[in-house]
Amino acid sequence: MNSIFESLEEELRGAFAACGYDTAGLRVVRSNRPDLCEFQCNYCMQLAKAAHKAPLAIAEEVVEHLTNSRVLAEAGAAAPGFLNFNLHPAFLAERVCRMEKAPDFGFEKVKNPRVMIIDYGGPNVAKPLHVGHLRSAIIGESIKRICRFAGDTVIGDVHLGDWGLQMGLILTELSIRQPSLVYFDADYTGDYPTEPPFTVSDLEEIYPAASARSKEDEDYKKLALAATAELQAGRRGYRALLDHILAVSVADLKKNYERLHVSFDLWLGESDAQVYVPDMVKMLKDEGYAYLSDGAYVVDVSEPEDTKEIPPCIILKSDGSSLYATTDLATLVGRVKDYAPDRVLYVVDKRQEMHFKQVFRTAKKSGIVPKDTELTFLGFGTMNGKDGKPFKTREGGVMRLETLISEINAEMEEKIKSNHEARGEESFDAEEDRKNAQIVALAALKYGDLSNQASKDYIFDMERFMSFEGNTGPYILYTIVRMKSILRKYEEKFGAPDFAQWEMLPAKDPSEKALMVEVSMFSSMMQGAYEELAPHRICAFIYGLSDAFNHFYHSVNILGQEDAKQRQSYLLLLHITMRMLLCCIDLLGFEAPEQM
Ligand code: ARG
Repeated sequence: MNSIFESLEEELRGAFAACGYDTAGLRVVRSNRPDLCEFQCNYCMQLAKAAHKAPLAIAEEVVEHLTNSRVLAEAGAAAPGFLNFNLHPAFLAERVCRMEKAPDFGFEKVKNPRVMIIDYGGPNVAKPLHVGHLRSAIIGESIKRICRFAGDTVIGDVHLGDWGLQMGLILTELSIRQPSLVYFDADYTGDYPTEPPFTVSDLEEIYPAASARSKEDEDYKKLALAATAELQAGRRGYRALLDHILAVSVADLKKNYERLHVSFDLWLGESDAQVYVPDMVKMLKDEGYAYLSDGAYVVDVSEPEDTKEIPPCIILKSDGSSLYATTDLATLVGRVKDYAPDRVLYVVDKRQEMHFKQVFRTAKKSGIVPKDTELTFLGFGTMNGKDGKPFKTREGGVMRLETLISEINAEMEEKIKSNHEARGEESFDAEEDRKNAQIVALAALKYGDLSNQASKDYIFDMERFMSFEGNTGPYILYTIVRMKSILRKYEEKFGAPDFAQWEMLPAKDPSEKALMVEVSMFSSMMQGAYEELAPHRICAFIYGLSDAFNHFYHSVNILGQEDAKQRQSYLLLLHITMRMLLCCIDLLGFEAPEQM
């Protein structure tokens, strides 16, 4: 189905052409003066010069040809040459009715679906998830869903950080604490135990301890670096310990991501790319891309057009160990081999932009990825506390994700309880409330993040995010819950609705028309959210849609409407609005409760 803008542009092109004008650059936009009109076209200004006419004269001429339009109504010319108009109520009602019956509300999937890998999450093994990992998970999950909705084949890869110094630190600390473990016996050739010699809580204590000690103790740091290099060189016992660390951490990570409704198709890590490193490094050396500089192998990636200096990409350290860039390049080797993606998208903190620039350029110039494979870096901003500084716990430490989520859940539960009291309800199901609180809390958290443009820093203000009013997740859910309740009441009073048979009548009430206009925006909004990889566009849309619905709800009496056809038309409008909201929140990665 055409988007509403396409339909309007088609109609206007007819009128401009009838007056003898070229129509190539004609565009319609939402009006920036909604008090005056719904849509506008500024094309007359563009035409004026070539036509040797005043823009207003052109607009007046065109308006003449729009008097009997079945698509638009109340077209008028306004100084200095705007064309202002509204949608024809009958056309709009017919369009919304068709959208209600069409799959995906008439949104057309991409004509040439692409295979895309999304690299997001990026947790580091053996370190607990903290709020810094939250944005990647939330934004990446939503973009994955949006691109799938648009028709692409999307593969989500968590890309675990499991190959760097943090592994060497853990190995070193373990070897000091439990030197008799068979993994540390270099002469041992037998099988290793299947049970890990530690739990996830042990690991969570071991890593920070090791990291702190390495900062004070040079010799200890040297041991950790050596252990890292030995692990990467393939020392059996270390590799076996890595497998234990991975198994224990991944089980814990999965549990945590599940609570966030975030899931991955691939649980690969940096260590899985190691098999590609030797050949890749050899190729980079043999083909003359990599050369020795200060003992390390580097690839030049600067380009003449660069306005600021892009340092060479370091692909191998002097001790032969891999770096962050090495694993990212080797990971691309694996991805191209296994999936031949058209695009690889990285959802990572924007402070890593330089790293990705170096990696992308190295990959392109050396042919690690084919020329037409798109490598995209989607860098997100920092989550700040109310003081404008990176978010911390009250004590000033890094907030663990688990703690954060538990706190938010508890607060939301309190809030829901006090809502019962405010409504004078005496008996309520505590278990039900707990479940609903979790659903609403997750929406608050995710919407609070996603409603900001990803690249911007934002203030993490849970109090505001949890509010049931304003531009928040709970407000959207509250609107959906209201709709569900109206549907239930309708059913009690009039029996099961028969949406497939019902008709949408042209809007009479301005709030009803305004809601229909919002609904009609769906396809163009989705197209924008997909092309720009922008979940915030969906948030802005559903906020407007919810607002429009609530105005409609307050100005017409849906259930009390005497005329059955009118009542059904209202309910049909409610139904498409509700389904649209549900579809959108699913794309954002949360759901709605039955009650709140
Ligand atoms: N583990 C990294 C970190 O915590 C993020 C990984 C991002 N993805 C990548 N392919 N480098 O900073």
